[in-house]
Amino acid sequence: MVVQAFQELVELRKQDAERLQWALTVGCCVELLHAFFLVSDDIMDSSHTRRAQICWYQKPGIGLDAINDALLLEASIYRLLKFYCREQPYYLNLLELFLQSSYQTEIGQTLDLITAPQGHVDLGRYTEKRCKSIVKYKRALYAFYLPTGLSCTWQGLMKESDNALEILLEMGEFFQVWDDYLDLFADPNVTGKVGTDIQDDKCSWLVVQCLLRATPQQRQILENYGQKDPEKVARVKALYEELDLQSVFFKYEEDSYNRLKSLIEQCSAPLPPSIFLELANKIYKRRK
Ligand code: IPE
Ligand code: MN
Ligand code: MN
Repeated sequence: MVVQAFQELVELRKQDAERLQWALTVGCCVELLHAFFLVSDDIMDSSHTRRAQICWYQKPGIGLDAINDALLLEASIYRLLKFYCREQPYYLNLLELFLQSSYQTEIGQTLDLITAPQGHVDLGRYTEKRCKSIVKYKRALYAFYLPTGLSCTWQGLMKESDNALEILLEMGEFFQVWDDYLDLFADPNVTGKVGTDIQDDKCSWLVVQCLLRATPQQRQILENYGQKDPEKVARVKALYEELDLQSVFFKYEEDSYNRLKSLIEQCSAPLPPSIFLELANKIYKRRK
């Protein structure tokens, strides 16, 4: 995303090797931040697989040493930025954006975790409002606003990227709702990870939609939520299927895509709308 936005923003003649090197470095830093969050997230979520491999903390001989590895991934962001960008006038802005996004994501993870305290299922917490806040803070800001914001910072276009915040948050929300949907309904061979949201008692978009539609009898089935027993997980899944949450997701996707298109029309200027449209094409309506 950083490289793509960079290419859209810089006039062609300015795209010399040194500038491209910059975009690649900053892009790598976003990947490192992502990796830092995922290594930590898998420990907190007791996950088993990630990117078609055993989670790093689950590897024999690694265990909780993974915590320090996650911290090293984070620290290497600031080493790379210092090495490649320290002399640039936008250096401080880059640092601030990384720090701000990290803080926001950590707040998002906190909200995700405290909404599901261990050993205590409370369906009353799973509101749409709470789910939206979790999604915005734990995913949308670092995965969507940050890469675009970084490219803009470099161009001295800070205000412009703020205009685009609404667009990026809509995309980021959709991306996490899709992640929540895939957690249960995707083939792990495709996503490379086995979902744990039901077992982990997560305030997932699916459970929120389920609660909005369930009859009092159906709601009782959710007593099986937040437990490891595969049979209980299967009961919750069967309820989601009975309520046809797959179709509810497809409808949400359609609505989000329409909202996005009008947001791009309203708020993208003076940034080129193609930045957002290309991104949207990568994440919407992929049926894999
Ligand atoms: C984690 O959300 C968000 C961050 C990486 C900060 P999830 O817990 O839903 O992510 P997955 O499903 O494990 O990838
Ligand atoms: Mn997780
Ligand atoms: Mn997930």
